[in-house]
Amino acid sequence: NSSSSTTLAASSYVLRRGFSSESAPERKVTILGAAGGIGQPLSLLMKLNPLVSKLALYDIAGTPGVAADVSHINTRSEVAGYAAEEQLGQALEGSDIVIIPAGVPRKPGMTRDDLFKINAGIVKSLCEAIAKYSPKALVNMISNPVNSTVPIAAEVFKSKGVYDEKRLFGVTTLDVVRAKTFYAGKANVNVAGVNVPVVGGHAGITILPLFSQATPKANLSDDIIKALTKRTQDGGTEVVEAKAGKGSATLSMAYAGAIFADACLKGLNGVPDVVECSFVQSTVTELPFFASKVRLGKNGVEEVLGLGPLSDYEQQGLEALKPELKSSIEKEVLPIPLLE
Ligand code: NAD
Ligand code: LMR
Repeated sequence: NSSSSTTLAASSYVLRRGFSSESAPERKVTILGAAGGIGQPLSLLMKLNPLVSKLALYDIAGTPGVAADVSHINTRSEVAGYAAEEQLGQALEGSDIVIIPAGVPRKPGMTRDDLFKINAGIVKSLCEAIAKYSPKALVNMISNPVNSTVPIAAEVFKSKGVYDEKRLFGVTTLDVVRAKTFYAGKANVNVAGVNVPVVGGHAGITILPLFSQATPKANLSDDIIKALTKRTQDGGTEVVEAKAGKGSATLSMAYAGAIFADACLKGLNGVPDVVECSFVQSTVTELPFFASKVRLGKNGVEEVLGLGPLSDYEQQGLEALKPELKSSIEKEVLPIPLLE
């Protein structure tokens, strides 16, 4: 697909889009949780993206420093920091894209589900503000557990009468980034040209990389495919353990988040054939939300693409992940007042 070879070099953004940053439409991007481990490098990467004209950085702690720092970079976007809850409305107003990396990260021994209690409350209150101040924005949900925070966001938007399934995305790009890196290593091919769809959800076995569809093709043994699958599924835990209590993936996540937001911007700007995997409302399986390839357009999701042919191993993985993904999706029906 056209977007997966995205690089973050400003010049290549301009070249591949066929317009200079001066003629690109005005686009406001807001980051909620901008001063965190992901938020800071993500703010930097979005500041480097010439498709962005306004960059709003919101966090409940540490925003002024991050905003002042990023604002000195001599690229197109105007940066504004918003530090207190009273300023959240201003941060959101007029946003085309809202990226949410607000919330607590895992420590060793925890699952993403262990983050549910605290992050569900954070996501719920942020989505209430989005419903009020920027109901037309594309929402890129990074906060974990993505398998539950996306359905929570959908419920909040429904309760406020502003839900549009085309505008809500769970960011699963890091799974794709990992699958590409690990595949390129084993297949001994140039990683820049690698594509691997990753479907399902964003936790453990719900992450299902489709190496049978990876390009360029390589003749890898079943054992290697199994090992690659497991490493992709456990990629988050690999980083959590290596950071030994200091959090989870931040730098690779910021990269992945910037790739996905860039794809959303390109879609909004009418660039054709922008395809990325994302966890969205779906009819690809019987589950109401599912990650698969999605074509992005002027209104967000233009088309949710099907799974394509699966190997027997992938078919088994698909059946195995469904009950777990279903129960994570259904968590959002927990009495939300408990979370307040
Ligand atoms: P972090 O603790 O370093 O940063 C989180 C930031 O969120 C902090 O700056 C904090 O002040 C802020 N915050 C908390 N409550 C807020 C609120 N109500 N409004 C605005 N900001 C608020 O954590 P991190 O490492 O940046 O991770 C953030 C989240 O992203 C975690 O839930 C983590 O599990 C998740 N994550 C997701 C993926 C993915 O692939 N989708 C990858 C990595 C991490
Ligand atoms: C990841 O995949 O790195 C994130 O979801 C963070 C985590 O907790 O693993």
